[in-house]
Amino acid sequence: MSASSLPQHCPTPVELDDLELLLSGALAPLTGFNEPGSAVTLALPEGLKDLDAVELVDPEGLPLAIASQGAVTPLSHAQFGPFRSLYLTPAQVRQEYAGRTFVPVTDALTVGQLEKLADLGPLVLLALAGTGTPTLSSVGLIRATIAAAAHLPDAAVVVVPLAAHGDPEADHDLGVQVVGNYAQGDPVTGLTAVAADDLQAGYPEDIAEIVDFDRPGPGRQGLVLFFTGLSGSGKSTLARALMDKVLEQGERTITSLDGDVVRRNLSAGLTFSRSDRETNIRRIGWVAAEIARHGGVAICSPIAPFDETRQQVREMVEQAGGEFFLVHVATPLEECERRDRKGLYAKARRGEIPEFTGISSPYEEPEDPAVRVDTTGRSIESALQDVLDALARFGFLDLVSNPLTGNFPTTRTGDAR
Ligand code: ADX
Repeated sequence: MSASSLPQHCPTPVELDDLELLLSGALAPLTGFNEPGSAVTLALPEGLKDLDAVELVDPEGLPLAIASQGAVTPLSHAQFGPFRSLYLTPAQVRQEYAGRTFVPVTDALTVGQLEKLADLGPLVLLALAGTGTPTLSSVGLIRATIAAAAHLPDAAVVVVPLAAHGDPEADHDLGVQVVGNYAQGDPVTGLTAVAADDLQAGYPEDIAEIVDFDRPGPGRQGLVLFFTGLSGSGKSTLARALMDKVLEQGERTITSLDGDVVRRNLSAGLTFSRSDRETNIRRIGWVAAEIARHGGVAICSPIAPFDETRQQVREMVEQAGGEFFLVHVATPLEECERRDRKGLYAKARRGEIPEFTGISSPYEEPEDPAVRVDTTGRSIESALQDVLDALARFGFLDLVSNPLTGNFPTTRTGDAR
């Protein structure tokens, strides 16, 4: 079937993993999405839901399958992604590896586990490396599993994109189903069976290096410091001051994504309608997540008035392996309006700026900030100290105890704005 004139939809990463398993037969007897009681679901947006058929495409737009009321018909196979050649279907595995012992792998293997596996004869290590792999990233798990195979006398590695659906029981059942479809009667050894309390629990050196690279400690993990609050609440000022601290410490790279600055470049042309604000924040989140993916620090200071969009940013960052640290700059409206440094509140009150946050457009207070700071009547230093203390409490960026950055001048340099 060639690319059709059907409407296209790009599924979520979990749905794409599920699609691949549905098409490869790994989820049999499931053959489609949304079967009653199944965790393997496809959520189509309004407008596409009621159509007879939709073309499912990968994030680059390559058509993968046609979905028709949940049933899927393949168009083309995923061709890219690290270690693609190790993603085998159950049929391919039966052909190449029948008769081996199958070992589902969801984490890096320890010395003790490897010692036990070494006695089991020829193995297939099934790396269950779908979206949401709990401890390591997908690619990290595959790399660790390949390294593990090299420690064993005869082990092949096969990758299965078995995603996590957020329901441990359903995911366990799906895992059993998938592994069963690969092993088809050959022995399966769960790693719990080779848990080696009595043996060495650590990783061999090469596997330890892979784990460390994949999950760097707090000092090297990507971090997104996200300041939200009304216009004039002091977000930018606090963010600037914090950025200076990070630069003074000199241990991390940092990029600022300030609301007003972003609107002059990345988001130039966007309005202050709800949908444009959401687009603006998602763009900031997308860039911040990429920064976090590379182990950097991003410091963002847009108003970001909508809780749902802030949650989306949190999710993007966490999926990129970063930490998301939300600061609510909770300076009340009357104080922001009293300061009115840019004269915007006065204009908004006169009706000259439509949809102004706090006046004629809503601000949804976050319920999940790591720290809340009201800058009313406080110096920048003192307000910043609250943020630094919270950062230290959460184990991020220990700027407090650093001798270069820990001591603030005692003079007041003006109100935080
Ligand atoms: S957000 O809502 O999309 O997060 P963002 O932080 O990018 O807003 O931009 C806010 C800045 O734009 C304010 O600091 C203010 O200077 C300016 N601005 C101009 N019009 C508006 C408006 N209608 N509402 C809020 N801020 C506005």
